[in-house]
Amino acid sequence: MVRRPIGVFDSGLGGLTVVRELARAMPGEDIVYLGDTARVPYGIKSPQTIRTFARQDAAFLLRHRPKLLVVACNTASAAAIDLLREVSPVEVVDVIQPSAEAAVRATSGAIGVIATEATIASGAYQRSIAALDPGREVLAVACPLLVPLVEEGRADDNPIVSYVLCDYLAPLQRFRPGVLVLGCTHYPLLAEPIRKLMGPQVVLVSSGQAAALEVQRRLKIARLASPSPNGGSLHCYTTDNPDRFARLGERFGGRTIDHVELIGTDELDRG
Ligand code: DGL
Repeated sequence: MVRRPIGVFDSGLGGLTVVRELARAMPGEDIVYLGDTARVPYGIKSPQTIRTFARQDAAFLLRHRPKLLVVACNTASAAAIDLLREVSPVEVVDVIQPSAEAAVRATSGAIGVIATEATIASGAYQRSIAALDPGREVLAVACPLLVPLVEEGRADDNPIVSYVLCDYLAPLQRFRPGVLVLGCTHYPLLAEPIRKLMGPQVVLVSSGQAAALEVQRRLKIARLASPSPNGGSLHCYTTDNPDRFARLGERFGGRTIDHVELIGTDELDRG
């Protein structure tokens, strides 16, 4: 049987938190990852630009003949999932729908969402949750400073992180949700301080975890799951600075990043 990988893309390094969840759920799967580090962040760009980038990222991964594509980036999922499904010959799993489903399942109460500016402005989480349960109260808050803080390695007990989180989470603390969706690839690295501020009664839903279970489900139904119990490979491509990618990537992916190849953004869209 020919081994075909799962293709995963993100605006940069953050999608490696999704790769970590995919590998945890399906350790035998090979993964090809593209991080568009030359053009990160996507979260402050216009929907048109995000759609163009996402289409190019997917076109590059499709050249590796993946059995399924994962849009690890919440921002790209929010802006471009319809377009990607139109152009892709293989199934495309986003991170928003599975997270919305996990959130609705996990609580009968209100749902909080934190994500990038573009994700919140798109209304994608709000729409997905409303489609599952129209009566559900949702409060969605954009947290633009969190991505650069995490990329800089400031996490957990850092006072700047606490200060910024206190500010962003104040309206959510008052809202008292049953679930808080971490709607951005970078936020799982801040799960501890977020949990401390929100309290133990608030369930945190990470978009990577929810998406990994959805990928596992779809591969099983399509009989495309790898029979190997472990040993899947990870091959990474990045559009800028592979050394930084390998160094920081370890923190996001929870594993050593051995294979990183540099590709130019001009190569992304070559059919
Ligand atoms: N990957 C993005 C997301 O999950 C965060 C980083 C960015 O803004 O590009 O929304």
